[in-house]
Amino acid sequence: MKNLGSRLEKAYEAIDRLGGIGTFADIGSDHAYLSCEVLLRGNAKRAIASDVNPGPLGRGKDYAAKTGVSPEFILSDGFDAFDDRKIDCAAICGMGGELTAGIIKRSSAAKKCFLVLQPMSAQEFLRGYLWDNGFEIIGEDFAVEHGKPYVIITAKYSGANTPYTYPDLFLGKVRPANAEFASYALKVLSRAEKSLLGSADRFLTGELICECQRQITNLSPTKD
Ligand SMILES: C[S@@+](CC[C@H](N)C(=O)[O-])C[C@H]1O[C@@H](n2cnc3c(N)ncnc32)[C@H](O)[C@@H]1O
Repeated sequence: MKNLGSRLEKAYEAIDRLGGIGTFADIGSDHAYLSCEVLLRGNAKRAIASDVNPGPLGRGKDYAAKTGVSPEFILSDGFDAFDDRKIDCAAICGMGGELTAGIIKRSSAAKKCFLVLQPMSAQEFLRGYLWDNGFEIIGEDFAVEHGKPYVIITAKYSGANTPYTYPDLFLGKVRPANAEFASYALKVLSRAEKSLLGSADRFLTGELICECQRQITNLSPTKD
């Protein structure tokens, strides 16, 4: 088994917690690490590795051949080429939050499965999209890899929108009391402090800064 690194390992753990997965789909699979891992560790009966670009799809096929497991490979923009395949859990990791939200928005499959999302940017946009469009965020996990904090969001469509505050968009509602979350909150704080100067929304940014500071107190951010 490959050492996935903290970011993908946390995504793997979120998938593992769901249990009982028939078909797992990895959207934007690149090397297909997650698809191979869920097959190697027996978390899913089937895995689909899909990517919009042939190069990454080829890398995934090469890696799968080395591991001896056989995900299905699909060249697809988001879920577009999935036809009517039934998916139990889909991961969309390593893309921007806006692109991730766009992929979810275009697909009816995304409303029928668990989603494990690891946005590299615009996390506040993605949380807002999910809460405004009937998706429930059922878990948030945090990882630090090479000093950088990452969030992994687990979501499921319920049809009911979720109310939220401005700090919720940036920090989520889960906020675990651990060093990884403290690192994440520290990064949000530093971005908020930089944007305060000249910000049109000084009140909201001030509220976010206070909430970050409250979260970070008594938690020691982790560097790795
Ligand atoms: C940075 S890599 C992330 C790979 C892996 N998921 C991870 O987290 O390590 C992003 C991958 O998403 C693919 N991608 C970008 N837009 C996509 C889309 N609309 N549909 C499917 N794949 C996409 C890219 O080709 C690339 O291989």
